[in-house]
This record gives sequence, C-alpha cells and structure tokens, in this order.
Amino acid sequence: MEVIIAKDRAELAEVAAGIIREQILRKPNSVLGLATGSTPEETYARLVKYHKEEGLDFSKITTFNLDEYIGLPPSHDQSYHYFMADRLFKHVNVNPENVHVPMGMAPDPAAFCEWYEDEMEKAGGVDLQLLGIGGDGHIAFNEPGSSLASRTRVKTLTEQTIKDNADLFFGKGQEHLVPKFAITMGVGTILEAKKLLLIAYGKRKAGIVKKFVEGPVTSQVTASALQLHPDSIVVIDNEAAAELEHKDYYKWVYSQKGELQKVLDRLAGN
Ligand code: F6R
Repeated sequence: MEVIIAKDRAELAEVAAGIIREQILRKPNSVLGLATGSTPEETYARLVKYHKEEGLDFSKITTFNLDEYIGLPPSHDQSYHYFMADRLFKHVNVNPENVHVPMGMAPDPAAFCEWYEDEMEKAGGVDLQLLGIGGDGHIAFNEPGSSLASRTRVKTLTEQTIKDNADLFFGKGQEHLVPKFAITMGVGTILEAKKLLLIAYGKRKAGIVKKFVEGPVTSQVTASALQLHPDSIVVIDNEAAAELEHKDYYKWVYSQKGELQKVLDRLAGN
C-alpha cells in the first residue's frame, strides 16, 4: 500500500485527480469505479477542469458507482445519482449509456445487485476504483462486520453513518431524512478492481486512517482490506495523517520516487 501525504486538501485533490487523469490518458476506455461523499468533490472539480481546459476525454470511459440509498429516486437531490450528475457527469463528455449507479428504486434489489456485478464483469472489471472512508472505517457502505469477501448487496447503515451523512448533506439533526438502507458494492467486489485509490482529509479521519493503514486487517474496519490489494494508493492530507506511526517513512518513500525511477531506467538500459 502506497501512502501519499499531501500538505492540505487542495494538494490531495490535485494528486488524486492526477492519478485518475493518468489512468484515462493511458487507457482511454478505462472502467472507473467512483465514490460520492464530501471527500471526492474537489477531485471531481479538477477532472471537470482538465476536461474543459485540456480536453481530457471521457467519451470511451465506463463508470460504476459504489453505492446508492434505497428508496431515493435519481431525481432526489440527496441521491448519489444526482450527486454524480451534478459534480461530474453533466460537465464532461461521458456517454450516459456507460454510466452505472446502483438503482435505489429497483423493485428487486437482490436481482439488481446480481445484474450490477454481471455488468462490471462484462465491462472487463474496474481498472481504477476511487474510495472514501467513513468514520467507522467503511469503504462504500461496508459497515463494520461486513465480510471481506462480500459482493454487491443491500446493507443497513450504522447510526453513526446516518448521523455523519445527515451532518454533511441532509442537514444537522436531520437524521430522520437519511435512508437507513443502501445498495453497495461488497469488499470482495472492490478488491477485484485492478487499482484502488482511497482519499481522506481532516482531523476527524485521523484515528480511522491510523487503524486501517497500520492496524490489523479486519472486517471491523473494512478499509483495512486495502492491505490485501497488490496495487492500492492512499492519498491523505497532513491532518488525516496525524496519528500514523510511520508517517516519516511514507513521506520519504514519496520523496524518493523520482530517484527510484532513475535507478530502474538505468537498470533497463534507458
Ligand atoms: C460514498 C461512499 C462512502 C464515503 C464515506 C466517506 O460513495 O461509498 O464510503 O466514501 O462515507 O464520506 P465523506 O467523504 O463524506 O466523508
């Protein structure tokens, strides 16, 4: 797991958007796994900027979102369909036919979840999966106790997640408006992506960042499953990195990246 510590939120978004841009440039028909929440907002804003200013091309990109609340129609302004259209899709040239967000109004959610997994497989699997992390360590809506082998399914959100999402989106004290259930990719589904990119910022994430990066792999902190993935990158700001024991080493590794590349190039005779 590569840990990149950015000085602040803006630098974090720049690094994360840069990794996604590089993926799109390297493979214009990439399959991107996308997340919602407050954390990726600035990253999406940067991707929109790259599209508008540099012509970053989304026309061959396919997307699969991690999750959606059950019971919210796509037109609801707190649905993840709405969030994605508002922050990214309507500002770039992605083909709407290639966009997938779980359907919170599906009459048969279990059948929908199976279909969603099949669609991901038919698309060739996710090349790069963007992730945030909840205060309880969840990735997507895989709350504590979710099997590390879980697949796309219906989950009941914890009271903490409902409160966090009320505070950030529905309004403080508006917990009763936040749906209690969601369709979410499973941890096993997420681990099948070829590359994982988890982003987090701020003091409120420092404790959980310490747990998932340096603690044991456990279904009680589903983000810790990133330790099992051969190509996962964690980009956090200084505040979220505050409790990491090996912070200096992660910074050192990052500072030596150019040097390492020179050594590898020399060995390869370039
Ligand atoms: C959203 C998602 C969630 C969020 C997490 C962090 O699609 O899957 O796991 O990434 O709850 O949310 P924020 O970014 O609002 O702190």
